Amino acid sequence: MASQILICLLLVTVVGVAVDCNSEGDALNAWKSQLVDPNNVLQSWDPTLVNPCTWFHVTCNSENSVTRLDLGNANLSGYLVPQLGQLANLQYLEVFGNNLSGTIPTAIGNLTSLVSLNLQHNQFTGVIPTSLGNLISLSYLNLNGNKFSGIIPSDLFLLVQRGNLRVMNVSDNMFAGTVHRGNLTVTTIIQDPKAS
Ligand SMILES: *[C@@H]1O[C@H](CO)[C@@H](O)[C@H](O)[C@H]1NC(C)=O
Ligand SMILES: *[C@@H]1O[C@H](CO)[C@@H](O)[C@H](O)[C@H]1NC(C)=O
Ligand SMILES: *[C@@H]1O[C@H](CO)[C@@H](O)[C@H](O)[C@H]1NC(C)=O
Ligand SMILES: *[C@@H]1O[C@H](CO)[C@@H](O)[C@H](O)[C@H]1NC(C)=O
Ligand SMILES: *[C@@H]1O[C@H](CO)[C@@H](O)[C@H](O)[C@H]1NC(C)=O
Repeated sequence: MASQILICLLLVTVVGVAVDCNSEGDALNAWKSQLVDPNNVLQSWDPTLVNPCTWFHVTCNSENSVTRLDLGNANLSGYLVPQLGQLANLQYLEVFGNNLSGTIPTAIGNLTSLVSLNLQHNQFTGVIPTSLGNLISLSYLNLNGNKFSGIIPSDLFLLVQRGNLRVMNVSDNMFAGTVHRGNLTVTTIIQDPKAS
């Protein structure tokens, strides 16, 4: 992070060209640009600021890197974009209770700091990308109340067995087959109408 900023400053001051140093802000702005936001909850998301840390619903760490996105019940429509996978320190992606659709981008699996992924009560479709099995820090996964289909990747069950995943709520979707509780640790809550 620090070296990235240094390189940016060098390019700007030495080479004298306008280089965009706000890469996390750019990633978030790429997401904003295709969201429909009737309640203007993203009004403060100004991409010309030096970083996104003063934007509402965005939290950063002491190094000005994004750690939280809190956009639950915000009446947003649109998609998750692959650029979100660039938020290397993101720990909480909270977008429950919106009207988001489309699939989970494979690049979300790059968010190895992610602790909580809450997509509950949206209109998401498609299969769960296997890349989510890379989310070694994940302890809370809520997919409840969407239109996800296909099978739940076995890599996610490995996160339950060997990783930190404690809550995995997949209920009220269109997943194929059944989810067996037997494979899971006792602390895990997994709820599916078809669960056996
Ligand atoms: C959400 O946005 C829609 C328009 O897209 C609007 O009709 C509705 O009233 C909004 N709901 C809330 C709770 O703000
Ligand atoms: C929900 O999203 C879909 C697809 O983007 C859109 O057609 C629809 O109008 C949205 N509904 C509301 C209530 O915002
Ligand atoms: C995510 O990781 C994949 C490799 O798994 C890589 O090809 C891609 O560039 C990464 N994407 C982002 C947005 O960092
Ligand atoms: C869970 O257990 C069932 C039988 O108890 C087995 O068929 C299935 O492959 C297991 N699933 C995973 C992901 O380990
Ligand atoms: C999982 O989703 C169901 C259905 O909405 C809900 O009743 C339950 O409380 C959820 N569990 C967790 C742990 O979030």
